[in-house]
This record gives sequence, structure tokens and C-alpha cells, in this order.
Amino acid sequence: TGAITLDPGYKNSGSCKSEITFLDGEKGILRYRGYSIEDLAGKSNFLEVSYLLIFGELPTAAELDKFETTIRKHTLVNEEMKNIIDGFPKTAHPMGVLASLTSALTAFNPKSVNVSNEKEMYDAVCKTMAKFLVIATWTYRKAKGFPLNYYDNTQGYVENFMQLMFSLPTGPYKPDPVVVDALDKLFILHADHEQNCSTSTVRIVGSSHAGLFASISAGVSALWGPLHGGANQAVLEMLEEIQANGGDADKYLAKAKDKNDPFRLMGFGHRVYKNFDPRAKIIKKAADDVLSSLGVDDPILDIAKKLEASALEDEYFKSRNLYPNVDFYSGIIYRAMGIPTEMFTVLFAIGRLPGWIAQWKEMRVNKEPIGRPRQVYVGETVRAFKAVNER
Ligand code: CMC
Repeated sequence: TGAITLDPGYKNSGSCKSEITFLDGEKGILRYRGYSIEDLAGKSNFLEVSYLLIFGELPTAAELDKFETTIRKHTLVNEEMKNIIDGFPKTAHPMGVLASLTSALTAFNPKSVNVSNEKEMYDAVCKTMAKFLVIATWTYRKAKGFPLNYYDNTQGYVENFMQLMFSLPTGPYKPDPVVVDALDKLFILHADHEQNCSTSTVRIVGSSHAGLFASISAGVSALWGPLHGGANQAVLEMLEEIQANGGDADKYLAKAKDKNDPFRLMGFGHRVYKNFDPRAKIIKKAADDVLSSLGVDDPILDIAKKLEASALEDEYFKSRNLYPNVDFYSGIIYRAMGIPTEMFTVLFAIGRLPGWIAQWKEMRVNKEPIGRPRQVYVGETVRAFKAVNER
């Protein structure tokens, strides 16, 4: 079998060849299918970018229309799914509920499990884009004890996120265009990030030929952790804690540097970006724009800026190349939009969905072998068995 190369955390191991996302951590470059993240966030929209990631090219007007129409065709979620939601306590974290509901979609859509041709793949993609958005918002409605909303096929995909979350029985809900634009941009910035923890999970689960929903459900669980997507919630909770304790950002910097303290500065550091995270740059500016267009004056933003400035000056952070990542400012925007903190990671999941789908599809189309890492065994060698009364 030859020698096994040990690489905990896969810091230097490529798991696949991919044509989807290019990332240069030293230069802070991120491109989807060759298009820069700055261009896409500034000029495109989330559904177009989703199409680009999944199918490889920016859609023509006709292709985009077909994509949107097919998504709209699949926006109803089986009513029996509501029985599953009813089984959860109201206090359940939305990410846990979302992972379960995504997995349950398999039972209600058995045809999407084993796609064998392009048409089935296309339908499975559109079905996933449609139903995932709806169930993602249902996790919030459930927590609030509100009736679950239906997708409004007269509105766009991102508008529907707001409508599904917040509409009341008093009439049609029209979200603020400033919020929709900002959300669209945030979804684009989260849409893919090559072989990160949740995406690698989606690929490895899918490599056993488990279906799309099962693979994505596993991705949701991986994203939930505070070192990954859960960081956006953790950042805001950290900033609120700093605020509640008198706004002393330096005290938290000291805690983050203390090796005897498990506390880490949430929203700082990245496995791959070692100079800056290009997404964080765009988001920082968006946070300023959104807060001023919405007329929100949030002292949390000032704490975040102070914390960032101090960390960037600090030898500990400088020597370890620790910079604000995508999650550092996103929560501040979500908060200004009225999105509750425990939904932040769900928003990350909605944004990341096309990336997960694209990576799953690429893995299946390329007929990649089952993912099966090896190990270096360091346990006992051979031991003689002892009966229980002899131990
Ligand atoms: N605060 C304090 N120290 C840190 C931090 C931080 N946020 N991040 C890394 N370090 C230190 C770490 O203790 C280590 O120090 P030393 O060399 O003295 O042992 C050094 O920097 C290298 O860290 P690492 O843990 O070996 O790096 P990694 O590539 O394994 O981890 C990370 C990357 C993102 C998990 C980590 O930086 C972290 O925990 N950050 C906070 C959580 C966070 O913001 N996550 C979101 C990541 S971006 C979006 C996403 O992926 O979802």
C-alpha cells in the first residue's frame, strides 16, 4: 500500500480537480468560473451566479428565464413536512432543524436521489434551490410559533427569502429593495469557496452515491460549527458581549491571545487567506452602505471597527496573518435587516447552496471515486483478549 502521508486538517492535500472556484490565499483572489468576486458582487445577481457555478457559464436571458421558471415550479414543499417541523421544540437551533428537514426532503422526493441523466440533474438542481429556501425560512417561523409561509411566485428568489421570513396575513409583503440588494450581494459572496469543510463534506457524502439532499444535509451540519459558518452568529454574540461589558475590545484581544484561554476572536483568521479575505473587504463596505441607507446607527459596528483596527496593529495577529474573514461584518448587516442572530448561519447556508450543488454535480459528472482517507495507526499493537472477570 506504500507509506501514508499524514496531513491532519488536510492543510496540504488536494482532494479533487475542480473547475468551479479559484482561490489565491496569498493575493486575496477569489473567482467563480474565472469571474472575479468583485465583478460578480457588483454586477450580477444571486440566481445568475448560482447558474454560473452549477452549469459553468453565465446564463443567456433564455437560460436564466428557464432556470427561474423551473425553480418556481418546485417551490411547494410537501405539506407532510410540517409534521416533522412540529416535532421540534421551539427552542431548537434553526441549523439543526434545517439539516433534518433537508434530509427529510429525500423521503418526499425520491427521484432526486439518484440522478442518471442531464434532465434529471437539472430538475434535482432546481428542486433543491426552490425547496431549500422555503424550509430554511420555516425553521425561523417555527421558532417564532408563526404559520409557515408559501413562496410567492410573483416575486424574485431573494425577495422571497424576506417574504417567507416576515410576511404576515395582512397582505402581500414587499421587502425593502436596499435589503434585497444587500442580501443578494451577501449570498453571492457566500456562494462557493472551493473545498472548505462543508463542501468537502457534501462531496465526500455524495461520493458514496448518496443523493443530493442527503449530501447537502450533511453540508448544513458541517457549516453549523463555530469554526466554519457558525462564526457569523458567534461574531455577533461576541460583539454584544463586548458591548454589554462596557465596550472594552482590548480585553477580548488579550483573551484571544492567551493560550490558556480557549477564546478565539470570532470572524478572524482563515485557513487559506493569509493577507486578507476579499469577501470581508466587500462586506465591510456593504455594512457601511446598508446601515446608512437604512438609517441604522449601530454601536456594535463601532466596536467591530475598533476591534479590527486593534487586531491589525497587534503583533500576535500580524505574525499569524490573522485578518477579518467573511463572517466578521456579515452579522452586522443581517442585524440591521432585522434578521435574528440564530438565523445568521442559515443565511450562510442559503448562500452556499449553489456551491454545494455545483461541487456535488462536478463530483458525480467526473465519476470521482468514493472518498476514503487513510490514517496512521498509533494504537496498541496486538493484545490477548481477557474475559470480563479477569480485567
Ligand atoms: N483568534 C485567536 N487566535 C487565532 C485565531 C483567532 N480567531 N485564529 C487562529 N489563531 C491562532 C491559533 O491559535 C494558532 O496559533 P499558534 O500558532 O500560536 O498555535 C494560529 O493562529 C494558527 O491557527 P490555526 O487554528 O492553526 O489555523 P487553521 O487554519 O487551522 O484555522 C480558522 C482557521 C478559521 C478555523 C481559525 O482561524 C479560527 O478558529 N477562526 C475563528 C473562527 C472563524 O472566524 N471562522 C470563520 C472562518 S471563514 C468562513 C468559514 O469558513 O465559514
